[in-house]
Amino acid sequence: MAPLSAHALAFVLVVALARLEASTAAAAVATTAQERSFVISGDQFLKDGQPFRVISGSFHYFRVHPSEWADRLQAMRACGLNAVQTYVAWNVHNPARGTFEWSGFANLTGFFELAQAAGLLVVLRPGPYICAEWDFGGFPSWILAEEPAMRVRTADPRFLQFVSEWMQELLTVVAPYTYAAGGPVIMAQVENEYGSYGSDKEYLASLRDLYRSTLGPDIVLHSTDGYLVRMFEGSQLEGVFPTVDFGPGVDPAYAFSVQRQFTTGPLYNSEFYTGWLTHWGEPSMASTNTSVVAGALDQILALNASVNMYMFVGSTNFGFWNGANAENDADDYAPVVTSYDYDAPIAEGGALRDKYFAIQQVISKYLTAEERLALPPVPARSSVAPINVSVELKLAPFWEQLPTLAAWTTQSQTPLTLEELGQSFGFVLYRTQVAPPDATLTLQDVRDRAYVYLDQELVGVIQRSDAQGPSLSLSLSSQLTQLDVLVESQGRVNFGPWIDGFAGVTRGMRLGNQFVSNFSMLSLPLASVQSLQLQGLGTSCSSTGACFAAGSFDVPQGAAGAPLWLVPDGWTKGVAFVNGFNIGRYWQSRGPQYALYISPAILLPTDNDLVLLELEAVPSSLPCVVITTQGGPGRRA
Ligand SMILES: *[C@@H]1O[C@H](CO)[C@@H](O)[C@H](O)[C@H]1NC(C)=O
Ligand SMILES: *[C@@H]1O[C@H](CO)[C@@H](O)[C@H](O)[C@H]1NC(C)=O
Ligand SMILES: *[C@@H]1O[C@H](CO)[C@@H](O)[C@H](O)[C@H]1NC(C)=O
Ligand SMILES: *[C@@H]1O[C@H](CO)[C@@H](O)[C@H](O)[C@H]1NC(C)=O
Ligand SMILES: *[C@@H]1O[C@H](CO)[C@@H](O)[C@H](O)[C@H]1NC(C)=O
Repeated sequence: MAPLSAHALAFVLVVALARLEASTAAAAVATTAQERSFVISGDQFLKDGQPFRVISGSFHYFRVHPSEWADRLQAMRACGLNAVQTYVAWNVHNPARGTFEWSGFANLTGFFELAQAAGLLVVLRPGPYICAEWDFGGFPSWILAEEPAMRVRTADPRFLQFVSEWMQELLTVVAPYTYAAGGPVIMAQVENEYGSYGSDKEYLASLRDLYRSTLGPDIVLHSTDGYLVRMFEGSQLEGVFPTVDFGPGVDPAYAFSVQRQFTTGPLYNSEFYTGWLTHWGEPSMASTNTSVVAGALDQILALNASVNMYMFVGSTNFGFWNGANAENDADDYAPVVTSYDYDAPIAEGGALRDKYFAIQQVISKYLTAEERLALPPVPARSSVAPINVSVELKLAPFWEQLPTLAAWTTQSQTPLTLEELGQSFGFVLYRTQVAPPDATLTLQDVRDRAYVYLDQELVGVIQRSDAQGPSLSLSLSSQLTQLDVLVESQGRVNFGPWIDGFAGVTRGMRLGNQFVSNFSMLSLPLASVQSLQLQGLGTSCSSTGACFAAGSFDVPQGAAGAPLWLVPDGWTKGVAFVNGFNIGRYWQSRGPQYALYISPAILLPTDNDLVLLELEAVPSSLPCVVITTQGGPGRRA
């Protein structure tokens, strides 16, 4: 943008005030207009006419069980924060065209109400693209099924049509919660780090206009970009306030000087990294030194800047929601682990780290005595004795359970993608017959990990990022062999030029250079595991390949209401369900996450059902898992 001029800002302020004075609805909450305004004036935010510094933290409501929201929000306020920042995940709220979800994990207005009750304002990041290490950067994959050739994050009219249908719905829900209307929402972010991706101003302008027309003239619209001039240029748009993001280790004065080239408004780091994300296969869960984070925060606050700490609340990619990164090309594929703990001040599961208290100390230096006194006490954490419980599991061969999960309804000459099958997440099984001679099977392309079976015997695994290519030699002895390829969507790419949502086998399967035809396909979204026949299970599965396992456990004595962790040591790779709730993927053979978070909200005092779908190999010893009170994503039992 041309930086927001003083004139333009004064105009916005006047419009805001005039609108409020005219509005009896707003008057119900605000006694005078001056008491309910949030604007930019010069190099400051003004809240109700007074200079205001935003000190916020990121908390993704869709990654935390709703019964834990209030606790996390109260802990944020007690640390000295005055706002919470969240993305809105389009794919959580809009699972199919015309279908919208607003309850449970998707209860956005409930989240606003709890934030406001905790004394926090809200900085909203509706996207529609959010990155967030979330499947497809928050886009629902059904948009690809409808328009496979569409270009996301551009003004492609096919994309804009979907965006506008969603945004009308979302922004109508948000509108009553803006600050001017009496709610907590002070700012809304247009797109997300757009300058890292594109430069399509027609797209950005259409988003800005959607926001403006629905949320009114009173809300501050902002962008977020890394501290490179080209990134700022990509996002620059009239009427949108540019902000910067950077972590500890970057000189704040330098990063803010880049922001300053594009605005006269407040200095604002809208993503200051308290920790980092972790991909499968990394040596350990990512962590960032507490004193380095606290020191950098101090420097930012000393510059009178506003700041948002990303993440403040550690959380979880439950189910199949995790995203993936692809740095150099589409096959440089790195899925994100189940935990989104992020080494945040509030850990996944709610524990308060030393980092929390170090940040509290830094913030308190910048509060007046009155502001400090107004903070609530830090919510209590009950101490729970260390307890490990070993839970024995019974086994059920995968192929026997398949008919309980789905029917072979889809036939096609070519293998179809998940999107073509109308499936957003999970697995798809491709079946066909193959004949001698021996040949090399190539999946063109595999998204993302394929288990290849001949006559129901696992003969190999093909991974999207395999250096030798998506191929496997098959030895085909009998006249006709049943080929089953079980493909796991491991999370669609969420960032960068390789964002493209198709999952499954996207273009075909070949023996040598000849495409194979005539597939039966079984969709396995595993949205529920209720239909599995788990009575009278046995104690064996074939030593390699997929297998279901089930057992039950009681909450250990003294651990009622406490977070628990599932440690499936001895198992290889799969997904776990507790009382039917998908607590996420495990991958013990790869790490560095070894324990899955079990929210107390999904637990019963006794007889909790545990189901694993193990994909690769069951333990050679007695099949069991450990439930522990002393967990964390990187801990083993
Ligand atoms: C949404 O959350 C609010 C606040 O916790 C709660 O009162 C309301 O019942 C919830 N609504 C739904 C539909 O989940
Ligand atoms: C964190 O950084 C501080 C200061 O640089 C250093 O003294 C301390 O040893 C570091 N802590 C860890 C756990 O690396
Ligand atoms: C921060 O604001 C205070 C109060 O307005 C002012 O005295 C101080 O010079 C400012 N510091 C910087 C680095 O701008
Ligand atoms: C295609 O496969 C089905 C089994 O799924 C089989 O019944 C049918 O004969 C096959 N068709 C051809 C043309 O090979
Ligand atoms: C739980 O298991 C871990 C790892 O084997 C061990 O360090 C810890 O002492 C155990 N805790 C209890 C209470 O047995």
